[in-house]
Amino acid sequence: MGKRDHWNGVYATKSEDTVSWFQKDAQPSLDLILTHPDAAARGVVDIGAGASRLVDRLLDNHVEDVTLLDLSDRSFDVVRGRLIGRDVQPTFVVQDVTDWQPARASGIWHDRAAFHFLTNRASQDAYLSVLKSATVPGSIAIIATFAENGPEQCSGLPVQRYSSEALSARIEPSFRQLETRKIDHLTPSGMTQLFQYTVLEAV
Ligand SMILES: C[S@@+](CC[C@H](N)C(=O)[O-])C[C@H]1O[C@@H](n2cnc3c(N)ncnc32)[C@H](O)[C@@H]1O
Repeated sequence: MGKRDHWNGVYATKSEDTVSWFQKDAQPSLDLILTHPDAAARGVVDIGAGASRLVDRLLDNHVEDVTLLDLSDRSFDVVRGRLIGRDVQPTFVVQDVTDWQPARASGIWHDRAAFHFLTNRASQDAYLSVLKSATVPGSIAIIATFAENGPEQCSGLPVQRYSSEALSARIEPSFRQLETRKIDHLTPSGMTQLFQYTVLEAV
């Protein structure tokens, strides 16, 4: 089964609040983005956004230039349904991030649990090249992955785990590290998953 079929199958068969990565409050992503209001005003792109509620919270906080990118169009059906009736809507991009050719740079690149599915060097390099083309000096990248001692799989797929130091080293010298966090995520079934969040600024 291809990657797109895998993810469409997940979103077709599970409700958004039962997947292991579900968050009601999209934290700490929301706070980390709102810490950089000038960058957020230049546009936020959420990579591997899935059915995340981050976009709802961004719109609530008047961050209105939001682009959601995901392999899975099924995940966006969920988001579109939730956002019915809102005046401001995000831009939806159904695409493998490693093939994306962004039309413009954004102030904030956010990724919670998408980059870690790229387990070979060539696909990681392709991702980092898209990251560079989607940002300009002063743009902020917030990248969350399973931490070095987090789970080895997510949604039944193998992942590459990172410490914040290893992640920053992979992304430098085009970006410099601003902040890191370690977060225990409690899944809907009561398991704990250790994430690392790294905030970087494009230089
Ligand atoms: C574990 S989920 C996380 C979803 C969301 N970021 C959140 O925190 O709720 C991973 C998401 O990344 C998407 N994804 C995985 N590989 C991708 C790729 N190469 N390009 C774009 N999206 C991808 C999946 O479709 C899925 O929606």
